[in-house]
Amino acid sequence: FVPTRFAIAAHSPVKVGIMLPFSGVYARLGENITDGLMMRIEEAGGTLGGRPVEYVRVDSEAAPPKAVDNAMKLVKREKVDFVVGPVHSGVALAMSKVLRKSPMTMMIIPNAGANQLTREACTRNVFRTSFSSWQPNYPMGLELAKRGHKRVVTVTWNYAAGKQMMEGFAEGYAEAGGGKPLEDLKVEFPDIEFQAILTRIAALKPDAVYAFFSGPGAIKFVRDYAAAIGTDKIPLYGAGFLTEDNIAAQGAAAEGIVTGLHWADTLDLPANKRFLEAFSARSGRPGDVFGVQGYDTGSLMVQAMAAIGGDTGNTDGLISAMEGAVIDGPRGTWTMSKAHNPIQDIYLRRVENGRNRVIGIAHAKLEDPGSGCKL
Ligand code: BEZ
Repeated sequence: FVPTRFAIAAHSPVKVGIMLPFSGVYARLGENITDGLMMRIEEAGGTLGGRPVEYVRVDSEAAPPKAVDNAMKLVKREKVDFVVGPVHSGVALAMSKVLRKSPMTMMIIPNAGANQLTREACTRNVFRTSFSSWQPNYPMGLELAKRGHKRVVTVTWNYAAGKQMMEGFAEGYAEAGGGKPLEDLKVEFPDIEFQAILTRIAALKPDAVYAFFSGPGAIKFVRDYAAAIGTDKIPLYGAGFLTEDNIAAQGAAAEGIVTGLHWADTLDLPANKRFLEAFSARSGRPGDVFGVQGYDTGSLMVQAMAAIGGDTGNTDGLISAMEGAVIDGPRGTWTMSKAHNPIQDIYLRRVENGRNRVIGIAHAKLEDPGSGCKL
């Protein structure tokens, strides 16, 4: 009896590289994605396709200049089967250049929204389980125009994600007859000094403000906005990252903020309730959208690895299993688009008593246009 290559490999661990921020502004996002991912794989018995799992962690520091080296370390030195990461769009764009040259290694993006990755720069071995930057923002543009807001100012960080989110918003806003936002204000990433833009907003007196910040930037922006302007005076809207996880730290300042996102803590689904309970029991922190994205990344890996019986050498089988995946998780049921990005509902949420209450569906089964993707 001569064991085949796969019979030997079958007992060896599947190597999963985790390239997420564990320091800096996005550290908490990275922790929550990691906990969600590991929790889901533990629920499946701690194995993928019958094989044990070995994790290799790298701190991406949300620093684009370090992305290529970090990705090379995982792909070339550690020879991982999967790379899960990153959070930051600039890191994702640099990192994907390494993965594009390594077609046997699967990259699963559990957050970063950079549109190109599932548009013109789409790649067979790159999948996303979160959202494209356009996705939560385009329906919010439609929404603000429908609400009759005529003079809207947008505010964000000056980097790929912030820029693309505001472009997505502006596209929807124009399409629904809102015209062009009055002004598009930006602060450098990861600065959290908002005084100058708040002074500018006060001078412009718009009838609504639309923002993207995340992590501690979102906490500070929401608090500073409440102190300097007030959501009751000029309503504050945003991509849902503005009121995720950090909502307790925002306290009364967050009340009344309306956002769009592909998940909400109050979503009345059994899978969501189970997730929230298990996540806080495991991590001691409330579940948020980042934990959900990690969790659904785990579901994608569990499903696809089961479909190929753990044979990671079967790249074609693995890719087609991920392409055909139907994920039934805390955000509801979603599927993978041809360009490898979730087709999902975008919920309209309003902060009430410290939670994001679902007040509607901003857009059902929304698929990113995927323009330019040829797979
Ligand atoms: C991004 O860089 O793509 C991103 C970071 C935090 C939250 C959402 C998106």
